[in-house]
Amino acid sequence: MKEKKGFIFDLDGVIVDTAKYHFLAWKNLAEELDINFTEKDNERLKGVSRVRSLEIILELGNKTLSKEDFDNYLVQKNEEYLDYIDKMDENEILPDVLKTLKFLKEKGYHIVLGSASKNARRILKQVNLIDYFDAIVDGNDVSKAKPDPEVFVIGATKVGVENEACVVFEDSVAGIQASNTAGMTSIGIGSKTVLGEADYVFADFTEMSDEFLNKLIK
Ligand code: BG6
Ligand code: MG
Repeated sequence: MKEKKGFIFDLDGVIVDTAKYHFLAWKNLAEELDINFTEKDNERLKGVSRVRSLEIILELGNKTLSKEDFDNYLVQKNEEYLDYIDKMDENEILPDVLKTLKFLKEKGYHIVLGSASKNARRILKQVNLIDYFDAIVDGNDVSKAKPDPEVFVIGATKVGVENEACVVFEDSVAGIQASNTAGMTSIGIGSKTVLGEADYVFADFTEMSDEFLNKLIK
């Protein structure tokens, strides 16, 4: 096993819990379209692009839209989502994420963001974490969505680290698959049942000891 030098973080569900804001904004839009959309349905949108999210909601309601309406609804949803994002602050960083970032930073490792979100930079600024990242790869930089490994491979390339020397923190199944395909070490953040394909799974960062990280790195 290669010594680990690059640590790639997904954003939504790993660093901050933005799924609740995505849900509120999608729920309003679904209501407008007369589509029933539940929190359980929202699980299917995790890790998935904005466009694909709307496609899934339309599938749930058995509805179709013209290209123009589809694009307008995407804008409308994002505007509402951003109203929530713009009220975020450091208190919304998930437990022990900052501690982990500081631990890795102090040791001089590369810290990378690998997210499907086109709002990633705005969110990182909002919660005051943007300076921790040596490279940011987000929904604006990729042509293929997770489970395609593109987002993580670009991230590793940006900091000049081989895939095998990278560790990925992810809360979505698609993200774990992307990490595995890239040959990176995958760490699932969430449920062991859902993220069984990951190399390791933790409920959250509070469960991940410095000892574990030290062992993982070597
Ligand atoms: C992912 C989220 O990180 O980003 C998805 O898990 C979301 O739920 C996707 O759809 C795209 O986000 P945005 O901010 O570009 O609409
Ligand atoms: Mg996520």
